[in-house]
Amino acid sequence: MISTEYMGLELKSPVIVSSGPLTQNIVSLKKAEDAGAGAVVLKSIFEEQIEKDVSAEVEGNAQYLEHSDAEESFASFSRDRYIDRYMKLLTEAKKSLSIPVIASVSAKTMDSWIDYAERFVKCGADGIELNYYPISSDASVSGADVDKRLFSFAEKARAAIDGPLSIKIGYKYSSLASVISILDKIGINGIVLFNRFFRPDIDIDSLSFTSGSPVSDENEYAEALRWIGLMSGEVKADLVGNTGIHDGKTVVKMLLSGAKAVEVCTAVIQKGFSRITEMNSFIESWMEKHGYSALSDFIGILSQEHIADGWKWERTQFLKTIGQ
Ligand SMILES: Cc1cc2nc3c(=O)[nH]c(=O)nc-3n(C[C@H](O)[C@H](O)[C@H](O)COP(=O)(O)O)c2cc1C
Repeated sequence: MISTEYMGLELKSPVIVSSGPLTQNIVSLKKAEDAGAGAVVLKSIFEEQIEKDVSAEVEGNAQYLEHSDAEESFASFSRDRYIDRYMKLLTEAKKSLSIPVIASVSAKTMDSWIDYAERFVKCGADGIELNYYPISSDASVSGADVDKRLFSFAEKARAAIDGPLSIKIGYKYSSLASVISILDKIGINGIVLFNRFFRPDIDIDSLSFTSGSPVSDENEYAEALRWIGLMSGEVKADLVGNTGIHDGKTVVKMLLSGAKAVEVCTAVIQKGFSRITEMNSFIESWMEKHGYSALSDFIGILSQEHIADGWKWERTQFLKTIGQ
């Protein structure tokens, strides 16, 4: 039995396909379910992208838009088209899949976010995942203020959304323990640790700005493992591991540290949907080998609160030089 409960949702497997290219059309969503995924998080609707596309469209149609009123209604029409497309995917996914379907929103401003999310819940989304990513590049804004914005965002979302609400965050906060526990107190049901953000790079031949690899490698899971290990015993919210989870072995590590589930993207992009089936089989055979009959028998048994040397989760330095 590899079922788990995440945000009150019953998942038949702890492996969730995370928001991205694999969750933006019904064919892939169906493949995810058939391969044994416990849930899917739809590709995020990005307010930033909509605004960019809409203003390009408004500019492209400038000859028809002589009045500013016309421009505004054209822009809102274009925006609605994106939302309608998203709701169509969500409705179709709800009709075709029996596993939970979580909608995901990335927005810069709270008002539009709430508006989208409320519509997705009405459309049948089993939960909402907030994709939150501040770039704290304004030197006049303190770390405390960056955190306050996150909390106010989470509070407004919590007040507006009835039902399972999760937030996927990055790990660059000065006190992650405090951030995670405040999100928990606000009543966020699931905290996904951690998103993997766009990585800038430079091409030294063309002397141009470029992007780093969009996909993770299999050694990138350590920060998620650490923070789940440290915090799973401290909060009511369900913690979910994300980034660098490429095989069943790493899924088991996440569960042992206290994760209720994991989200995977790169592994499935690179190895196909069968990687989900392999992860599930690995968990089952590992459980059999260790005498566990349910995930709840071992979720969190190696978290900081459950082991005698739990301080090790906090270690930051290698105490001995490699090779000595
Ligand atoms: C091409 C691509 C597109 C993505 N799009 C989204 C997105 O729309 N929303 C989101 O929350 N995460 C998005 N992600 C991030 C993934 O959901 C995931 O958090 C990240 O890739 C780390 O997990 P992984 O190591 O399993 O890939 C995207 C990732 C990739 C590679």
